Amino acid sequence: MTLPFDGAISAFYETGAPDHVREAIASAGKDDILSPSYPYDEEIKTKDYDREIKALQVELVKMQAWARKTGKRIACLFEGRDAAGKGGTIKRFRENLNPRGARVVALPAPSDAEATQWYFQRYVDHLPAGGEIVFYDRSWYNRGVVEKVFGFCTDAQREAFFDQVPAFEQLLVDEGIVLIKFWLNVGRAEQLRRFLKREADPLKQWKLSAIDVKGLERWHDYSAAIEETLSRSHTDVAPWTIVRSDDKKRARLAAIRHVLSQLEYDRKDHAVVGTPDPKITGGPEIWNA
Ligand code: ADP
Ligand code: MLT
Repeated sequence: MTLPFDGAISAFYETGAPDHVREAIASAGKDDILSPSYPYDEEIKTKDYDREIKALQVELVKMQAWARKTGKRIACLFEGRDAAGKGGTIKRFRENLNPRGARVVALPAPSDAEATQWYFQRYVDHLPAGGEIVFYDRSWYNRGVVEKVFGFCTDAQREAFFDQVPAFEQLLVDEGIVLIKFWLNVGRAEQLRRFLKREADPLKQWKLSAIDVKGLERWHDYSAAIEETLSRSHTDVAPWTIVRSDDKKRARLAAIRHVLSQLEYDRKDHAVVGTPDPKITGGPEIWNA
């Protein structure tokens, strides 16, 4: 079977990647964190992770029961560069929840008809009903980042987006929706290491897209678009929570803890929820190009 991007990632690794990125990957052990500025050298131990994630998933079950009982509506946005760990984090949130009340929204590129609509319209269609928690795997923030990097929108459309987004999110919050915006931050070498793994694994190749392959060359364009997006859409009512996801397991724990700590559900075990690891969780100031 020939896959559409067969070899494109390893070719970039061999000849396109900056030397420091290639060297970081080549010299790293399996559990080593690649980003020199990351506050840990190694991934969390599996034993510790397993124990913590299980306890947090029990809390998520309680939280969902409470949301259903009270009709709470919760929308969590997951943003981040390709391979930042959005899908994997959402998967751990939902693992033990009733899937009917815990939907994932991962919209494809807009159709011709959708492209003529108000930009937020198709996302509004998927907002949570009472008792639901909705996970947006990418969101309206496509206009801030990927659409800029790939020229999928005009500058005027992007400016209109930045003008409207604070008001749009204010409306959602005024309406009573709990809105949580995550930016998962992954370093350049770790992103490439994950792409290489995907390329080598027949069960993961579906995760690779033409955008991922072309995006390899556009790291700095992404950085500029991300920086602008975070700074223009970080508001009091809808702040960004950055989670450094070079260690994807620590990132999952931090993201779940963050959501749980925002909600006062019944029978909450505060000792389990604790606070998200402050070394890897924070506002836009901890985002790292
Ligand atoms: P993902 O990383 O979510 O699996 P891709 O890497 O293929 O998906 O694409 C990244 C994002 O870019 C997706 O949300 C996709 O819908 C969006 N996208 C792709 N092509 C277009 C386009 N022509 N116009 C607008 N958005 C697009
Ligand atoms: C992620 O890992 O962040 C996404 O879910 C998948 C991707 O990057 O293509």
